[in-house]
Amino acid sequence: MTMRNTSIRTVVIIIVGIIVIGTVLMLIRDTATAPSLQDTKNTTPTQNKPVADVKPTYDTTSAKSIQVIVNKQHPLKQIDYAPISLTSVGNGQRMRTEAAEAFLNMQAAAATADAPIAATSGYRSYSYQKTVYDSYVSQYGMAETDTFSARPGYSEHQTGLTIDIQGGGCSLDNCFADTAQGKWLAANAYTYGFLLRYPADKTAITGYKHEAWHFRYIGTKLATDMHTQGITTLEEYFDVSGGASY
Ligand code: DAL
Ligand code: ZN
Repeated sequence: MTMRNTSIRTVVIIIVGIIVIGTVLMLIRDTATAPSLQDTKNTTPTQNKPVADVKPTYDTTSAKSIQVIVNKQHPLKQIDYAPISLTSVGNGQRMRTEAAEAFLNMQAAAATADAPIAATSGYRSYSYQKTVYDSYVSQYGMAETDTFSARPGYSEHQTGLTIDIQGGGCSLDNCFADTAQGKWLAANAYTYGFLLRYPADKTAITGYKHEAWHFRYIGTKLATDMHTQGITTLEEYFDVSGGASY
């Protein structure tokens, strides 16, 4: 064999070697980064499901989130939280702007449906809720008050997302459920993003007596999903604790 043939053979062996080593390295890398079957199952439930079946992720813990859950087990994280932007909804009441706009749209639709509604109580600051709660305690005692009024820092009204609604000659009373207004809201509020927050049959879950007048803005997407699924409390929908005790 000539010197030249030996050199060619050496070069060929080196090139083949590089190709073989490169291929092996690529295979090792792909195996290391590909998810295993177990990983695939554990990442997100969206991977094998049609997009329509996937429950969106909501923030239920930040005070400023439209979907925040506030109940006796879940006070506002910042106990004296106050929303930044508030808009009038009439009768001297205000709500967070996004919720106020939804309420005003709902109010216009209710009037068109011969069920005119008005605001009774919207945003309540920590200190105002304290005044309201303390006043009830002096009248009814703490145990009774806790069945219908939230302690300061524990009221949805403090988020600016909640509104007590009156109409048909009824305000802050369950006679509202029997008015055209109460019936119209019970059937249609979800289309404007509102939820009847304290239903008659869920007092053990919400921790409060039935309030036919208290509506909470949660956004149309969530409200519609809850309505479609027939789930009537945030605690049940998100599997979050609630109930009567603090
Ligand atoms: N009446 C409701 C529970 C509140 O005080 O926020
Ligand atoms: Zn209320």
